[in-house]
Amino acid sequence: MTDSQAWSHPAFEKVAAYLNYHTRLVFSPARRQEAEAGIRRAMERNLVTEIEGYQRLLESGELPLDDLIGELTVGETYFFREPNQFQFLRSRIIPELRKSRGSCHEWSVWSAGCSSGEEAYSLATVLEEEGLAGSVLGTDISREALRKAERGAYGSWSLRGVEPQVLEKWFHCSGSLWSPRVRRARFAWHSLASGVPPWNRKVDLIFCRNVLYYLDRSCLDQLARLFYQTLAEGGWLVTGSADPPLGERAPFTTVLSEWGVFYCKSPQHRSQPAPSLPSAPPAPRKRPRPAAPPPASAQEEAVRQFRSLLQQRAPAELLAEARRQCQRYPLAGELHFLRAMLGLDQGEVEEALEALKRVLYLDPSAVVAHFLLANLLEGQGRLAEAARAFRNARDCARVLPAEEPLRWGEGGSAGAMVQACQRKLSSL
Ligand SMILES: C[S@@+](CC[C@H](N)C(=O)[O-])C[C@H]1O[C@@H](n2cnc3c(N)ncnc32)[C@H](O)[C@@H]1O
Repeated sequence: MTDSQAWSHPAFEKVAAYLNYHTRLVFSPARRQEAEAGIRRAMERNLVTEIEGYQRLLESGELPLDDLIGELTVGETYFFREPNQFQFLRSRIIPELRKSRGSCHEWSVWSAGCSSGEEAYSLATVLEEEGLAGSVLGTDISREALRKAERGAYGSWSLRGVEPQVLEKWFHCSGSLWSPRVRRARFAWHSLASGVPPWNRKVDLIFCRNVLYYLDRSCLDQLARLFYQTLAEGGWLVTGSADPPLGERAPFTTVLSEWGVFYCKSPQHRSQPAPSLPSAPPAPRKRPRPAAPPPASAQEEAVRQFRSLLQQRAPAELLAEARRQCQRYPLAGELHFLRAMLGLDQGEVEEALEALKRVLYLDPSAVVAHFLLANLLEGQGRLAEAARAFRNARDCARVLPAEEPLRWGEGGSAGAMVQACQRKLSSL
């Protein structure tokens, strides 16, 4: 571990452990410096100079945990963030649910980890647009963010993704602030680590985006089950495109579409496999491998054996095994791809990035690897690199027949990939 990854004082680690106990927030080694900076800001605001003193005051309840939470979570959000997902909501989720629930149904929507409310109001606006009754509950652990959500007045930065005609129709302006006209959203404090839902009712739709990467692995398992139980039959879960996958953690049906990956609690989609168990015939290669591979049979056998473990072992164990296999067969792109997926599942984003780059080194035409890489880079705010990777995915997909299923693409076609990349590129 490098210096930048270790806690600079054991009391920082204790503060992080205390926070984890109460919220399940977790700081990977790569995020420890950032976490220390946040703890120091909270100390400064409370005029505490020694970390041990801060730890004692926090644990004795003399200083509010909320204050620290606010420093350690990023509330970055904006209206209609990830327009592709709203597109999927309008074109697939709403028509399907409208059909099964009927036109008088009262919709219940949960925006989990809503920050300052932009996502919840966006969802309320979609309900209104679509002529649907019902309301949205936005929840978060940051009380400061919830206060802003309740005020519901936003600067132009929160509206950066909104088209002028949408702005005019659904928002009103007062001074330099904009407020959504549709106010069918209410807000409540709720910790996703609590293991209980904020509502005593089943919901049709859950948006939980750009929150999961804060949480530890065991919390993700619990949360996936909580979401599954909270959804009514036929309900949908939408996570952020760079969030760790939840498909294997609860009996969701994972639906891969040209708009991204979505989870449904419905038997009608069961035929579609989850994305972490990819399998499809290899796509034609554009360039030769950089080095001669070992005998294909040994490598292929290793991949086959590894795949046979996927249903049987716990994800952490699988990741360790994937690492071993990748060391043994460094030229087996598929093993690196599986390592990337498992790494993502375990919150090892840097490892997933490295593994995807390795896949692409071995096979620059691996469309799905370009696409995943692009989404991860976008999630890290590395937009120029993300755009390059989306362009690569698009260009590699373009040379394939439009209807050709993509390798590792869960049935998604090359044509759908081209469209998805175009959409991403125009929204970046
Ligand atoms: C980046 S914002 C995401 C906002 C919105 N969902 C979006 O995608 O634009 C992450 C939010 O998650 C909240 N959060 C983090 N851990 C949480 C937890 N354990 N329970 C509830 N909210 C949490 C943070 O307070 C923050 O407001």
